Amino acid sequence: MVVVRAPGKVILYGEHAVVYGEPALAMAINKYVYVTARARSDGKININARDLKLTGISVTISEGGDIIARTDYGAVISALSYVKRAIELAMEYVDKKVGIDLEIRSEMPVGAGLGTSAAVAVATMYAYIRELGYDIDKRELARLAWQVERDVQGSASPTDTTMATFGGIMYVKPEGNNAVMEPVRPGTNVPLIIGYVPRVSTTKDLVAMVRRKYEIMRDVIEPIIRTIGLITRKGREALEKGDLELMGVLMNINHGLLDALGVSTRQLNELVYAARNAGALGSKLTGAGGGGCMIALSDRIEVEKAIELTGGSVLKAALDTNGAVVVDSN
Ligand code: PMV
Repeated sequence: MVVVRAPGKVILYGEHAVVYGEPALAMAINKYVYVTARARSDGKININARDLKLTGISVTISEGGDIIARTDYGAVISALSYVKRAIELAMEYVDKKVGIDLEIRSEMPVGAGLGTSAAVAVATMYAYIRELGYDIDKRELARLAWQVERDVQGSASPTDTTMATFGGIMYVKPEGNNAVMEPVRPGTNVPLIIGYVPRVSTTKDLVAMVRRKYEIMRDVIEPIIRTIGLITRKGREALEKGDLELMGVLMNINHGLLDALGVSTRQLNELVYAARNAGALGSKLTGAGGGGCMIALSDRIEVEKAIELTGGSVLKAALDTNGAVVVDSN
């Protein structure tokens, strides 16, 4: 039996601008997806994702006696397709098809932009490979997990799978079809409170919406995108120096520009302002927007409470420096 965990991530600066070649700064967080793998002798694959915080599943028995699982929440289907593709690629990697029991558990809400699908892909592959007695280089693991995301989604940036594999903080700069990823050494602890509200739009739709604006009025949108890139570079410097105050100011400006691009929502804005009023050094939406997550630079209980009182759910997070690791085996 092997238990692997892989971390989620937040984007500190640079979402959306990164689609236009600007850098982004992503941080792995100490909230994890855990995958337990147990080899079976009968060749069957059994996936138990009971704790994946997947809501909206209903299981019924049809007239013919078949069990039909229904869901009105695409996340269930989608999480399972990541697991399936991850197992297929892990089987190709070890060149063996062995039955397995997989148990998957997430400490993060699924589909909120925290990188759960990438963490599921990374942890599933790593657990399968280790349970069969093999090992894999982390660069190879990140590459294969990125492949899982691309096969399931059609297109995907390597950011989430890189963070789930290596952990830490990365400065990501797209270059053509690739991305340069530089590990960043923070000059101080980065205390983060994550607020979460249900999503009303998908990443794909939001990226497309910004693209339309960019095409219709490039002269207005382009400077916003370039300025976000500038904020990311300055944010990296502030982080390396351990200047949390400056980091907070830059987060606030970054949020204003994301709002200008139209990817925030009234509810996200309310959480962002509630966090600042309660004493956060800075706050912004994180990820694609349209609901989902915001981050507040703070470790104050008042900030957590303010987010909750404004209707958000709270996750308190700090930096994860390990990425994917085996946490138990026997
Ligand atoms: O919600 P997330 O973490 O998948 O963020 C998407 C980030 C975008 O910049 C909006 C899109 C992308 O592919 O980089």
